Amino acid sequence: MSKHLFLIGFMGCGKTYWGERIAKVFSLPFTDLDEYIESVQGRTIAELFVRQGESAFRQLERRYLYVSSRWSPRVIATGGGTPCFFHNLGWMKRHGVTLWIDIPFEILWLRLQGEERLRRPLLRETSFETLQQLWQKRCAYYQQADYIARRQPEDDEATWTAKVHATARTALLALLPGSSQQSKA
Ligand code: S3P
Repeated sequence: MSKHLFLIGFMGCGKTYWGERIAKVFSLPFTDLDEYIESVQGRTIAELFVRQGESAFRQLERRYLYVSSRWSPRVIATGGGTPCFFHNLGWMKRHGVTLWIDIPFEILWLRLQGEERLRRPLLRETSFETLQQLWQKRCAYYQQADYIARRQPEDDEATWTAKVHATARTALLALLPGSSQQSKA
């Protein structure tokens, strides 16, 4: 059974961005779960939401998450909702380690304006307050991650990058055979 590093966190936290970088630094393959779903289904996530609705999308998301157990060990960027449905979070923990990229909500909100907003069906016509409520609900899931990289307001880019890399390194070490390290950072 493959053991992966699963990156989890709210939309806009940088799961794909960091996933690509972590994979490069540690010479591992990288897969973005949403991109994988889009390539297999031949439709964008936004189209899947519109055509089939959110609950059908969640079934697909779970199906393709399970497919990842057949892949070689790698870094996987999940969707913002992946750990919050079914027993996906427990499943990911059994098939690897989970790392939450935790960014203050105010920064996420700013990032999710403009083009970022158009790509994501859940962001259509949402207000600051509504999205903040969704973020709060989801934090209950994210905080169960095995490892947490938390950006503090005072962190500059260099500090934040070092923090993400150090947390990813600790998480990847825990995946090595014989490791008993499975604690939150
Ligand atoms: C979703 C997040 C999206 C994508 C879909 C639903 C969510 O992924 O899976 O639009 O429920 O938060 P990103 O977190 O990569 O934007």
